[in-house]
Amino acid sequence: MRNKVTKAIFPVAGMGTRFLPATKSVPKEIMTLVDRPLVQYAIDEAREAGIKEFIFVTSRGKGALEDYFDHAPALEEELRRKGKTELLEVLQNTNMESGAIAYIRQHRALGLGHAVWCARRLIGDEPFAVMLPDDVIAADKPCLQQMVEAYEETGGNMVAAMEVAPEKSSSYGMLDIREDMGHMVDVKGMVEKPDADKSPSNLAVIGRYILAPTVLQNLNKLKSGSGGEIQLTDAIAAELDQNRKVYGYRFEGQRFDCGSKSGFLQATVSFGLGRPDLEADLRAYLHDIMQVDKAAQ
Ligand code: UTP
Repeated sequence: MRNKVTKAIFPVAGMGTRFLPATKSVPKEIMTLVDRPLVQYAIDEAREAGIKEFIFVTSRGKGALEDYFDHAPALEEELRRKGKTELLEVLQNTNMESGAIAYIRQHRALGLGHAVWCARRLIGDEPFAVMLPDDVIAADKPCLQQMVEAYEETGGNMVAAMEVAPEKSSSYGMLDIREDMGHMVDVKGMVEKPDADKSPSNLAVIGRYILAPTVLQNLNKLKSGSGGEIQLTDAIAAELDQNRKVYGYRFEGQRFDCGSKSGFLQATVSFGLGRPDLEADLRAYLHDIMQVDKAAQ
């Protein structure tokens, strides 16, 4: 019997410099997509995939993120008193079971690999998921759930993969493919942020992973990879050197890079249009400004 994936690491210790000055005081993960913080989308996706333990790797200045997960009994009472049952339900759906969330501090931003390594004692000897809340994925079946189901068949390590334009390869970990099986690809190598002419394929890794605990041992041994940071990609690639499997999983769904301003704006429009209470107004507005644009050309 394969171990079930019940733990997820959320590395949120980065500085979020692309959103300065907002991130001077607001953690990026708390910024709102329509009316929910980015991190809520990641938590909901994790819950749907069967995750029971949520491990946040945080840093200085992320207090608002920790506060977000506190229950709000006074606010709940007020909503109950005023008969605002719908809002009460919205609020209660964000409540987490006591003890389900742990916070670990990454003392220096030494990279994603280092952030994951910081959580090693809470993972122990089990497979675990890693989720980057910056990557928001709109999908009928949540992306991590798709991956967990595939992982139950394959074991090994699994990374979410998506096709990108060649000039974008220098922003991603890129997969070197041994065999392409459609949804799944058998990976024979991984390269962190290669230039377009050095990229082994156009399949990029995005922020969802299911990893074997041996990846944490690989991180132990790593000093630093590309850019002086400790790269998660290098620790996963080391699995291949030790004859363990790595699969890429082409998920169904649309991924938004909410770590970038443009991706965040696109996600805002798309999620706004997906909301029945907002769709008509937003669509009319978008239509109007497109008309004005066209007229000006
Ligand atoms: P990014 O590369 O997007 O960095 O990290 P960032 O600091 O969040 O944002 P920018 O580039 O300065 O705008 C990808 C993910 O890895 C986490 C980040 O919090 C984010 O979820 N991370 C990165 C860490 O937890 N620790 C690190 O040392 C680096």
